[in-house]
Amino acid sequence: MTPTEKAAALAARKGGTPLSALTAYDYPSARLIDACGIDILLVGDSLGMVVLGFPDTTHVTIEHMCHHTAAVARAHPQALVLGDMPIDTYNSPEQAVRHAIMLRDAGAEAVKLEGGFDQVANITAILGAGIPVIGHIGMLPQQIVSEGAYRKKGRTEADAQRLIHDALALCEAGVCAMVLESVVPDVAARITAAVNVPTIGIGCGIGTCDGEVAVLTDLLGSFPWFVPPFAKPEAHLAATISSAVLAYKRRVETQAP
Ligand code: KIV
Repeated sequence: MTPTEKAAALAARKGGTPLSALTAYDYPSARLIDACGIDILLVGDSLGMVVLGFPDTTHVTIEHMCHHTAAVARAHPQALVLGDMPIDTYNSPEQAVRHAIMLRDAGAEAVKLEGGFDQVANITAILGAGIPVIGHIGMLPQQIVSEGAYRKKGRTEADAQRLIHDALALCEAGVCAMVLESVVPDVAARITAAVNVPTIGIGCGIGTCDGEVAVLTDLLGSFPWFVPPFAKPEAHLAATISSAVLAYKRRVETQAP
């Protein structure tokens, strides 16, 4: 399937089997995740925090994203490879198209950017270049410096209305799906009911969206230093890694010549 066909197939899942999405930042995780039949491999800019050791996503560059997108794409996944556009790579339509093309050339089949109504011109320009786009509204991690903390969105009716307006603007612009991050559950459900493309939730509660996305390290329990409150680990790899390393150390230290 071409990227456009894959994006259309995802959009057509509205109201059907919920979409599953996971972040992937490298070749082995992409292969393993793809073999499980996950629908979207998101090369998220969470990369900056859980792989590159930055305090937040605002340090991620297009070069970081292209490097890791290319590694994921080398797994030739069935899943859609979705590349995040880092902060300050979509401050104008021309800049957005240039960077979306860099991600596409690295192997992204669609790109994701943060924002709603304010991003319509950028999204229109990227779609005009033939690159499918997924939106991202609610809590926007790239705004951490101006907002000062990661806070739930949609707590007031005015905020809920703003989010619904943003979601409808994204649909109108032509996104094939949108991520809702840390939106209060009833507002996430209202957005899901209002839009004609799948919503993909993270930290929005159960059964409020048309699908779910998780950060791989949250799922695997492999990044114990920052665990969001909504994370539901299915494994505890940090402890597994530590005990394997300690076993190796013991083995080496007891093998005197
Ligand atoms: O970068 C990322 O991992 C994301 C998810 C939180 C949706 O954008």
